[in-house]
Amino acid sequence: MNDSISVEPSGPLVGSVRVPGDKSISHRALICNALARGEAEIRGLLESADCRSTIACLRQWGVEFEQSGDNILVRSPGQAVFHRSAGVLDCGNSGTSIRLLSGVAAGLPFRTEFDGDESLRGRPMRRVLDPLEQMGASVADAATAPFWVDGSAGRLRGFDGPIAVASAQVKSCIVFAALRAEEPSRIVEPGPSRDHTERMLIAMGADIEVEGETIHVRPGAELHTSDVEVPADISAAAYWMIAAALIPGSEVTLPNVGVNPRRSGVIDVLTSMGANVELRNPRDISGEPVADITVRGSKLYGARIDGDLIVTALDELPTLAVAAAFAEGVTEIHDAEELRVKESDRIATTSALLNAMGVEVEDWRDGMRIVGGQPRGATVDSHGDHRLAMAAAVAALASDLESGPTTIQRASAVDISYPTFWRELDRLRHVPV
Ligand code: S3P
Repeated sequence: MNDSISVEPSGPLVGSVRVPGDKSISHRALICNALARGEAEIRGLLESADCRSTIACLRQWGVEFEQSGDNILVRSPGQAVFHRSAGVLDCGNSGTSIRLLSGVAAGLPFRTEFDGDESLRGRPMRRVLDPLEQMGASVADAATAPFWVDGSAGRLRGFDGPIAVASAQVKSCIVFAALRAEEPSRIVEPGPSRDHTERMLIAMGADIEVEGETIHVRPGAELHTSDVEVPADISAAAYWMIAAALIPGSEVTLPNVGVNPRRSGVIDVLTSMGANVELRNPRDISGEPVADITVRGSKLYGARIDGDLIVTALDELPTLAVAAAFAEGVTEIHDAEELRVKESDRIATTSALLNAMGVEVEDWRDGMRIVGGQPRGATVDSHGDHRLAMAAAVAALASDLESGPTTIQRASAVDISYPTFWRELDRLRHVPV
């Protein structure tokens, strides 16, 4: 199969792009509604391979989904009457599916087996299995998928204390188990990871209180289903934001983008690099802040990206590294060790991408140093990582006109979170004259 795409450098990007629904919120809209008994309509759900994995897994426990026009209808008997799945829950490439659903499985009176693709099988799972075991669930003696979680012993204890990494997936896993525990839980995060789970469960009637980075969960409250309108995904918008910032003369508007402060680090970093980013029409949709974002091309400068910015710009770091490669001066990324355990080792794969395009880059355990310049077209590999494929496309669009196209191998990886990405790129790319 020829799974390579060739992307030519582009002139100014001008227009409006409606990016698909937020991936993190889509997973949660499916899972949280499945926990309650009843029906809910989800508008703007991201239709991608990762969300299909969550739907397929929930179906195996007895939840029904129905397409209704552009929307998805969730019809659930409620978590209390989920039935044992006849087969393994295959989470494909999706870390969010496997980690969040593990927490749900801890509250079910039977064993659930989980697995995923080769990339997911390489990612650390003790970070969810250890806390679930601490709460009294039986779990497999495994570090990675495949593994099982068994809540048949019942009587989950509350969780009380810190979690090891600032990870919304780990936090959400514990929250889902905590809803089914016999005691209250207190979960303390080391950093401000995305809080979509807490927001949605509170809206559905859960007894959850958030104080900074501490989450109190009191079990027992009855959840009700709730219709959700999913905002556009800031992680998908980021590709066009960064491409527009890099290409002089560009002006791209992205309507209806989720700008939850725990997700919007990309705006803070771009602004600190000198980008022209405008947020208009701020409002709330289904309990999440959204705005229309316009980015215009401007000169960018190197920056230091570390601390809480790492958590709030986590999935955008490969593309911000691409921005740094075109900026004037040096950019350093620190505290980003988590990038090593994403869909690929994103410190290694981003460095390799930039290297291939002629950028001076050094990497270390928790980050990298990028010397800005004028990257040129090359042949690069996404390593099957959707975010790498799209970061490479941004680099290709902004690269030196003289140096020709960039060939991106394993380009279909975008199906994981943004299946229409290449079509959108074709529509928006401007052929320079
Ligand atoms: C996600 C949390 C983050 C992020 C991932 C989606 C989520 O992962 O990188 O793409 O929806 O909870 P971690 O929780 O592992 O940091």
